[in-house]
Amino acid sequence: MYTQAMDTMGKPLQAAAPASAQEEALQQRFDTRIDAGEFIEAKDWLPDHYRKTLVRQISQHAHSEYVGMLPEGNWVTRAPTLKRKAILLAKIQDEAGHGLYLYSAAETLGTSRDQMLDALHSGRAKYSSIFNYPTLSWADVGTIGWLVDGAAIMNQVPLCRCSYGPYARAMVRICREESFHQRQGFDALLVMMQQGTDAQRAMVQDSVNRWWWPSVMMFGPPDDQSPNSALSMRWGIKRNSNDELRQKFIDACVDQAKVLGVQLPDPDLKWNEERQHHDHGVIDWDEFWRVVGGDGPCNRERLAARVKAWDDGAWVREAALAHAAKEAGRERAVA
Ligand SMILES: [Fe+2]
Ligand SMILES: [Fe+2]
Repeated sequence: MYTQAMDTMGKPLQAAAPASAQEEALQQRFDTRIDAGEFIEAKDWLPDHYRKTLVRQISQHAHSEYVGMLPEGNWVTRAPTLKRKAILLAKIQDEAGHGLYLYSAAETLGTSRDQMLDALHSGRAKYSSIFNYPTLSWADVGTIGWLVDGAAIMNQVPLCRCSYGPYARAMVRICREESFHQRQGFDALLVMMQQGTDAQRAMVQDSVNRWWWPSVMMFGPPDDQSPNSALSMRWGIKRNSNDELRQKFIDACVDQAKVLGVQLPDPDLKWNEERQHHDHGVIDWDEFWRVVGGDGPCNRERLAARVKAWDDGAWVREAALAHAAKEAGRERAVA
């Protein structure tokens, strides 16, 4: 998921008091449907805060898919084999598709794509901080698949049961593709670890050392510092807490790291028999907030790349609009 930033922006949301008897009845019906586990659809009546929360979460998720193409795009021309290049291209194209599904889902809530992109380009909207870290070696492409897409799956699978129908349905398709992303990353690392040279194994370990903690941070701040979580849980937008998902991710990665033969860079990581989970070391939340706040290694570079792509694409959008207007004119003439 790339929705970690949803808990990091603005004031905590409060459910607004209903304004009239009619609205109260609508709110009651909405609450009953949420409690019954029904999907809420685009044309249904929605409380304003539910709508705003969803637009914020889904658009941040869409922005993350788009910005997330940049770190890996850095390696397309330098992939070690034709097979790896084809896999990487397919994965990056998937991410563009995820962005499109999600922008479309958010548009059903009444916010246009132009408005969402304007918020991204002007720095008002966030995207997942993980993409503000650089990809320094080919191993980083594998590690992103294994850890970053792996964390995304942990976060996104519960969203397939999110109460808002268009978002939930987009997530079903996205999750299928994310699981391919995770496996291709793990496979790329496994080949380097099992068939590679000492230098390649060292490259993988260095990459895991750099990406482990930022991946653990992808689940967002600890539960007691996550102001919007309770309301999102009440509304069935969120199904599990940040800390629950983080624990699940860490437990899964410990076993996968053993198969790979890499060390996770946390000396305090150990099995806790009583909890039946792994304990882990202290997370550097100062780093997390610094990167969310715009001061990560690549924040400026990522945003500048998205703004340039938008500006460079202006003529395509203009041409598409002119073509659509011409077609509409022809149809009118025929009618
Ligand atoms: Fe994705
Ligand atoms: Fe992915």
